Amino acid sequence: MFARAAARTLSQSRTFSSSAARQSKVAVLGAGGGIGQPLSLLLKLDPLVTSLNLYDIRGAPGVAADVSHVDTNSEVKGFAADKLDEALEGTEVIVVPAGVPRKPGMTRDDLFNTNASIVRDLAAAIGRVSPKACILVISNPVNSTVPIVAATLEKQGVFDEKRLFGVTTLDVVRAARFLGGIAGTDPKETVVTVVGGHSGATIVPLLSQIPSGKSVSGEAYEKLVHRIQFGGDEVVKAKDGAGSATLSMAYAGARFANSVLRGLNGEKNVITPTFVKSPLFADQGIDFFSSNVELGVNGVEKIYPIGSLSAEEEKLLAACLPDLKKNIEKGKAFVAQS
Ligand code: NAD
Ligand code: LMR
Repeated sequence: MFARAAARTLSQSRTFSSSAARQSKVAVLGAGGGIGQPLSLLLKLDPLVTSLNLYDIRGAPGVAADVSHVDTNSEVKGFAADKLDEALEGTEVIVVPAGVPRKPGMTRDDLFNTNASIVRDLAAAIGRVSPKACILVISNPVNSTVPIVAATLEKQGVFDEKRLFGVTTLDVVRAARFLGGIAGTDPKETVVTVVGGHSGATIVPLLSQIPSGKSVSGEAYEKLVHRIQFGGDEVVKAKDGAGSATLSMAYAGARFANSVLRGLNGEKNVITPTFVKSPLFADQGIDFFSSNVELGVNGVEKIYPIGSLSAEEEKLLAACLPDLKKNIEKGKAFVAQS
């Protein structure tokens, strides 16, 4: 990230000198956790972040004191469990990695019972205190937690579909890394569009849309797709009960937050996959979907269609849609019953 971020920073300071003074107050909810801590550190390194509010039900003031010593210009403040409203005050971007991670043998959906209410309650506080903020949801199951945030804000009459994002960047990161390993391409130059949702079969990598991806076929293709779809399980298994991806997720989360901030700052052509309220499959009752999205001064600027698919990708998409629909409906039903 650092090389790329540094390159971006250089180009930003040349191209967007007038926006350099813009204030970007970012909050992390769940900042004391496995993702929250390294994510907070990476956000402290992002020159687009001028103020960083770290909140958790435990440990955030300590993380904030620690991160605040890093020699970049942003101000860092920590907020204890009873200070959520203060943490949210005036924030423009709120990143949410709060909630429990998987253990071996669990699916992301198995986290629903615990994480749904955590995310709903945080969303309600955001809707009350900082309704115009962009909300970046990391907490799993993303396919359900994003609809939970939307439905909670809808209930409050403050939902803005341009400002809610499920963070699926880790799937894009894994696809670039795993394809790079097979095709011998530099992951930095290997941009794979991953669409659908964020769990197992709902993760649909569109490898046919780039030459290096198109060159992988047969058993190697099947294995690559499986690895992209189930990369999270690899980490859960290797951590052996100690949680799921934290460091690669912090990287992915910081990278996506940087993209959102660049869009808010007026940078053009900031385009990346993210799980948003989407018209692409709404006619099939699936109103949240991840596809390439252009980020802009209001959040979502443009949702791109998925483009042309190979026969294999058509099959992957057909397998994705029913699962995704169930996950979305489960999230909505939870808020409706709350
Ligand atoms: P963790 O247990 O290490 O950290 C979670 C943190 O959330 C803890 O510090 C906990 O105190 C805090 N928390 C719990 N309830 C809270 C509340 N009401 N308000 C504020 N903070 C609260 O877990 P982790 O490894 O950091 O993972 C966090 C979540 O991110 C999990 O749900 C995990 O599945 C998910 N995740 C998503 C992706 C993705 O690609 N979107 C990738 C990895 C992990
Ligand atoms: C991931 O993809 O690594 C995360 O969603 C965490 C998990 O549970 O696998």
